[in-house]
Amino acid sequence: MIWVKLLIPLILFGAIQASTRMCAQCVAGDFIFRRNLMQDSSVGMSMGWIEEWKNTNCVKGIINTIPCDHACLKITIIKSGEEKDAIDGVMMDCSDFMIHSSPDLPKHIDFTAYDENAVFSSMRRNFTITYNFTMQGFEGVDEIAEAYKAKTFPYYREEYGISTIVIVMFLFVTVIACVFIFFWSCVRDICCKVKNDYSYSSHVQCSASVEEQIPQPSDHVTAPSSPSAPSDDVENHVEQKNGDIQNF
Ligand SMILES: *[C@@H]1O[C@H](CO)[C@@H](O)[C@H](O)[C@H]1NC(C)=O
Ligand SMILES: *[C@@H]1O[C@H](CO)[C@@H](O)[C@H](O)[C@H]1NC(C)=O
Repeated sequence: MIWVKLLIPLILFGAIQASTRMCAQCVAGDFIFRRNLMQDSSVGMSMGWIEEWKNTNCVKGIINTIPCDHACLKITIIKSGEEKDAIDGVMMDCSDFMIHSSPDLPKHIDFTAYDENAVFSSMRRNFTITYNFTMQGFEGVDEIAEAYKAKTFPYYREEYGISTIVIVMFLFVTVIACVFIFFWSCVRDICCKVKNDYSYSSHVQCSASVEEQIPQPSDHVTAPSSPSAPSDDVENHVEQKNGDIQNF
Protein backbone atom coordinates (compact mmCIF):
# COMPACT_ATOMS: atom_id res chain seq x y z
CA MET A 1 0.00 0.00 0.00
CA ILE A 2 2.67 2.51 1.02
CA TRP A 3 4.81 1.89 -2.03
CA VAL A 4 1.73 2.39 -4.28
CA LYS A 5 1.17 5.79 -2.61
CA LEU A 6 4.79 6.67 -3.29
CA LEU A 7 4.63 5.40 -6.86
CA ILE A 8 1.69 7.58 -7.99
CA PRO A 9 3.42 10.96 -7.34
CA LEU A 10 6.57 9.52 -8.92
CA ILE A 11 4.70 8.65 -12.10
CA LEU A 12 2.95 12.05 -12.10
CA PHE A 13 6.26 13.82 -11.51
CA GLY A 14 7.84 11.79 -14.31
CA ALA A 15 5.01 12.81 -16.66
CA ILE A 16 5.53 16.49 -15.79
CA GLN A 17 9.30 16.08 -16.25
CA ALA A 18 8.75 14.64 -19.71
CA SER A 19 6.62 17.52 -20.97
CA THR A 20 8.25 20.50 -19.27
CA ARG A 21 11.37 21.11 -17.19
CA MET A 22 10.93 22.11 -13.55
CA CYS A 23 13.37 24.72 -12.24
CA ALA A 24 13.98 26.09 -8.78
CA GLN A 25 12.95 29.69 -8.27
CA CYS A 26 14.60 31.41 -5.34
CA VAL A 27 17.19 33.93 -4.18
CA ALA A 28 19.67 33.92 -1.31
CA GLY A 29 22.00 36.40 0.29
CA ASP A 30 21.95 39.92 -1.09
CA PHE A 31 20.87 39.08 -4.62
CA ILE A 32 17.72 41.19 -4.55
CA PHE A 33 19.80 44.12 -3.24
CA ARG A 34 22.14 43.84 -6.29
CA ARG A 35 19.54 45.19 -8.68
CA ASN A 36 21.74 48.07 -9.83
CA LEU A 37 24.53 45.59 -10.59
CA MET A 38 22.33 43.12 -12.47
CA GLN A 39 20.23 45.74 -14.27
CA ASP A 40 23.07 48.17 -14.97
CA SER A 41 21.91 49.60 -18.29
CA SER A 42 25.03 51.82 -18.53
CA VAL A 43 27.07 48.67 -19.37
CA GLY A 44 24.26 47.09 -21.42
CA MET A 45 23.00 44.72 -18.74
CA SER A 46 19.32 43.91 -19.06
CA MET A 47 17.53 41.13 -17.22
CA GLY A 48 14.15 40.43 -15.70
CA TRP A 49 13.40 41.06 -12.03
CA ILE A 50 10.84 38.68 -10.57
CA GLU A 51 8.41 39.70 -7.81
CA GLU A 52 8.28 36.14 -6.40
CA TRP A 53 11.97 36.21 -5.41
CA LYS A 54 11.18 38.37 -2.38
CA ASN A 55 9.38 35.56 -0.53
CA THR A 56 11.97 32.86 -1.22
CA ASN A 57 15.22 31.69 0.33
CA CYS A 58 17.31 29.05 -1.47
CA VAL A 59 19.35 28.27 1.64
CA LYS A 60 16.38 27.85 3.97
CA GLY A 61 14.53 25.69 1.46
CA ILE A 62 11.85 28.29 0.70
CA ILE A 63 11.96 27.50 -3.01
CA ASN A 64 9.29 27.68 -5.69
CA THR A 65 9.31 24.98 -8.35
CA ILE A 66 8.27 26.37 -11.71
CA PRO A 67 7.90 24.86 -15.19
CA CYS A 68 10.36 26.21 -17.78
CA ASP A 69 10.63 25.80 -21.55
CA HIS A 70 14.38 26.34 -21.65
CA ALA A 71 17.39 25.83 -19.39
CA CYS A 72 17.32 26.53 -15.67
CA LEU A 73 19.52 29.47 -14.73
CA LYS A 74 21.53 29.96 -11.59
CA ILE A 75 23.40 33.23 -11.06
CA THR A 76 26.01 33.42 -8.33
CA ILE A 77 27.54 36.73 -7.23
CA ILE A 78 30.81 36.67 -5.30
CA LYS A 79 32.38 39.85 -3.95
CA SER A 80 36.11 40.10 -4.61
CA GLY A 81 38.33 40.21 -1.55
CA GLU A 82 35.93 38.12 0.54
CA GLU A 83 36.94 34.81 2.11
CA LYS A 84 36.87 31.60 0.07
CA ASP A 85 33.38 30.32 0.91
CA ALA A 86 31.62 33.67 0.97
CA ILE A 87 28.78 34.17 -1.49
CA ASP A 88 27.19 37.57 -1.87
CA GLY A 89 24.03 36.44 -3.61
CA VAL A 90 22.39 33.60 -5.52
CA MET A 91 19.41 33.54 -7.87
CA MET A 92 17.72 30.51 -9.44
CA ASP A 93 14.96 30.74 -12.02
CA CYS A 94 13.96 29.85 -15.57
CA SER A 95 16.31 31.26 -18.15
CA ASP A 96 13.25 31.88 -20.41
CA PHE A 97 13.27 35.57 -21.37
CA MET A 98 15.40 36.31 -18.32
CA ILE A 99 18.58 37.82 -19.77
CA HIS A 100 18.04 40.09 -22.75
CA SER A 101 21.58 41.39 -22.92
CA SER A 102 24.67 41.20 -20.74
CA PRO A 103 28.28 42.36 -20.96
CA ASP A 104 29.12 39.19 -18.97
CA LEU A 105 27.88 36.78 -21.67
CA PRO A 106 28.93 36.05 -25.28
CA LYS A 107 27.20 38.46 -27.69
CA HIS A 108 26.12 36.10 -30.46
CA ILE A 109 23.98 33.72 -28.34
CA ASP A 110 20.25 34.18 -27.57
CA PHE A 111 20.06 33.55 -23.83
CA THR A 112 16.30 34.17 -23.69
CA ALA A 113 15.76 30.73 -25.26
CA TYR A 114 18.86 28.78 -24.33
CA ASP A 115 18.86 24.96 -24.31
CA GLU A 116 22.35 23.95 -23.25
CA ASN A 117 24.43 23.20 -20.20
CA ALA A 118 26.95 26.01 -19.93
CA VAL A 119 28.70 28.13 -17.35
CA PHE A 120 29.87 31.71 -17.99
CA SER A 121 31.75 33.86 -15.55
CA SER A 122 32.69 37.51 -15.57
CA MET A 123 34.17 40.15 -13.28
CA ARG A 124 32.22 43.38 -13.05
CA ARG A 125 32.39 46.17 -10.43
CA ASN A 126 34.44 43.99 -8.04
CA PHE A 127 31.92 41.15 -8.29
CA THR A 128 32.48 37.79 -9.93
CA ILE A 129 29.17 36.93 -11.58
CA THR A 130 28.65 33.33 -12.69
CA TYR A 131 25.80 32.27 -14.96
CA ASN A 132 25.09 28.53 -14.79
CA PHE A 133 22.61 27.28 -17.42
CA THR A 134 21.50 23.70 -16.90
CA MET A 135 19.03 21.44 -18.69
CA GLN A 136 19.07 19.08 -15.71
CA GLY A 137 16.09 20.66 -13.97
CA PHE A 138 15.32 21.10 -10.29
CA GLU A 139 17.78 19.23 -8.07
CA GLY A 140 15.61 19.21 -4.96
CA VAL A 141 15.32 21.42 -1.90
CA ASP A 142 17.65 19.25 0.21
CA GLU A 143 20.35 19.15 -2.48
CA ILE A 144 20.29 22.94 -2.80
CA ALA A 145 20.47 23.37 0.98
CA GLU A 146 23.32 20.85 1.09
CA ALA A 147 25.24 22.68 -1.67
CA TYR A 148 25.19 25.93 0.35
CA LYS A 149 25.71 24.40 3.80
CA ALA A 150 29.41 25.28 3.92
CA LYS A 151 28.94 28.71 2.31
CA THR A 152 28.58 31.99 4.12
CA PHE A 153 26.07 34.58 3.02
CA PRO A 154 25.70 38.17 4.11
CA TYR A 155 23.01 38.73 6.70
CA TYR A 156 19.56 39.05 5.28
CA ARG A 157 17.54 42.05 6.30
CA GLU A 158 15.10 39.84 8.21
CA GLU A 159 18.00 38.34 10.15
CA TYR A 160 19.30 41.79 10.96
CA GLY A 161 16.13 42.18 12.97
CA ILE A 162 16.88 39.05 14.97
CA SER A 163 20.54 39.93 15.58
CA THR A 164 19.54 43.44 16.69
CA ILE A 165 17.11 41.95 19.19
CA VAL A 166 19.87 39.67 20.49
CA ILE A 167 22.26 42.63 20.91
CA VAL A 168 19.61 44.74 22.64
CA MET A 169 18.78 41.86 25.00
CA PHE A 170 22.47 41.33 25.74
CA LEU A 171 22.89 45.04 26.59
CA PHE A 172 19.73 44.94 28.70
CA VAL A 173 20.97 41.93 30.69
CA THR A 174 24.40 43.57 31.11
CA VAL A 175 22.84 46.78 32.45
CA ILE A 176 20.63 44.80 34.84
CA ALA A 177 23.67 42.83 36.04
CA CYS A 178 25.68 46.05 36.61
CA VAL A 179 22.82 47.65 38.53
CA PHE A 180 22.42 44.49 40.61
CA ILE A 181 26.16 44.31 41.39
CA PHE A 182 26.20 48.03 42.29
CA PHE A 183 23.23 47.67 44.64
CA TRP A 184 24.60 44.47 46.13
CA SER A 185 27.91 46.15 47.01
CA CYS A 186 25.99 49.12 48.47
CA VAL A 187 23.85 46.81 50.57
CA ARG A 188 26.98 45.02 51.77
CA ASP A 189 28.59 48.33 52.75
CA ILE A 190 25.46 49.39 54.61
CA CYS A 191 25.36 46.03 56.36
CA CYS A 192 28.97 46.49 57.44
CA LYS A 193 28.25 49.98 58.78
CA VAL A 194 25.24 48.72 60.71
CA LYS A 195 27.24 45.81 62.12
CA ASN A 196 30.04 48.13 63.22
CA ASP A 197 27.61 50.45 64.95
CA TYR A 198 25.88 47.48 66.53
CA SER A 199 28.84 45.65 68.04
CA TYR A 200 32.60 46.18 68.18
CA SER A 201 33.28 42.49 67.74
CA SER A 202 32.55 42.63 63.99
CA HIS A 203 35.71 44.69 63.32
CA VAL A 204 37.37 41.68 61.69
CA GLN A 205 35.21 41.86 58.54
CA CYS A 206 34.87 45.62 58.19
CA SER A 207 38.30 46.89 59.16
CA ALA A 208 37.94 50.25 57.35
CA SER A 209 35.19 51.60 59.58
CA VAL A 210 36.57 49.97 62.69
CA GLU A 211 39.68 52.16 62.76
CA GLU A 212 37.51 55.24 63.33
CA GLN A 213 35.77 53.51 66.18
CA ILE A 214 38.86 52.30 68.02
CA PRO A 215 38.89 55.34 70.36
CA GLN A 216 35.35 54.55 71.52
CA PRO A 217 36.16 51.31 73.39
CA SER A 218 39.07 53.01 75.18
CA ASP A 219 36.63 55.69 76.52
CA HIS A 220 34.75 52.98 78.33
CA VAL A 221 37.84 51.26 79.58
CA THR A 222 39.58 54.39 80.93
CA ALA A 223 37.27 54.54 83.94
CA PRO A 224 39.63 54.63 86.98
CA SER A 225 40.62 51.33 88.56
CA SER A 226 38.15 49.42 86.39
CA PRO A 227 40.81 47.16 84.79
CA SER A 228 41.93 45.84 88.13
CA ALA A 229 38.43 45.53 89.59
CA PRO A 230 37.37 42.34 87.83
CA SER A 231 40.59 40.52 88.68
CA ASP A 232 40.13 41.46 92.35
CA ASP A 233 36.67 39.96 92.24
CA VAL A 234 37.99 36.78 90.71
CA GLU A 235 40.68 36.51 93.36
CA ASN A 236 38.09 37.05 96.05
CA HIS A 237 35.96 34.29 94.63
CA VAL A 238 38.87 31.93 94.49
CA GLU A 239 39.80 32.75 98.06
CA GLN A 240 36.21 32.23 99.13
CA LYS A 241 36.06 28.93 97.33
CA ASN A 242 39.32 27.83 98.81
CA GLY A 243 38.00 28.90 102.23
CA ASP A 244 34.88 26.81 101.66
CA ILE A 245 36.92 23.82 100.65
CA GLN A 246 39.12 24.22 103.69
CA ASN A 247 36.03 24.39 105.88
CA PHE A 248 34.77 21.03 104.63
C1 LIG B 1 37.55 47.22 -6.47
O1 LIG B 1 38.12 47.55 -7.71
C2 LIG B 1 38.99 48.63 -7.71
C3 LIG B 1 39.46 48.85 -9.11
O2 LIG B 1 38.39 48.78 -9.99
C4 LIG B 1 40.15 48.34 -6.76
O3 LIG B 1 41.00 49.45 -6.68
C5 LIG B 1 39.64 48.01 -5.41
O4 LIG B 1 40.69 47.63 -4.56
C6 LIG B 1 38.63 46.88 -5.49
N1 LIG B 1 38.06 46.64 -4.19
C7 LIG B 1 38.05 45.43 -3.65
C8 LIG B 1 37.43 45.33 -2.33
O5 LIG B 1 38.52 44.45 -4.19
C1 LIG C 1 25.99 24.30 -12.61
O1 LIG C 1 24.75 23.85 -12.04
C2 LIG C 1 24.63 22.42 -12.04
C3 LIG C 1 23.27 22.12 -11.50
O2 LIG C 1 23.02 22.81 -10.33
C4 LIG C 1 25.73 21.82 -11.18
O3 LIG C 1 25.65 20.43 -11.18
C5 LIG C 1 27.08 22.25 -11.71
O4 LIG C 1 28.10 21.81 -10.85
C6 LIG C 1 27.14 23.76 -11.81
N1 LIG C 1 28.40 24.16 -12.42
C7 LIG C 1 29.19 25.10 -11.90
C8 LIG C 1 30.45 25.34 -12.62
O5 LIG C 1 28.89 25.71 -10.89
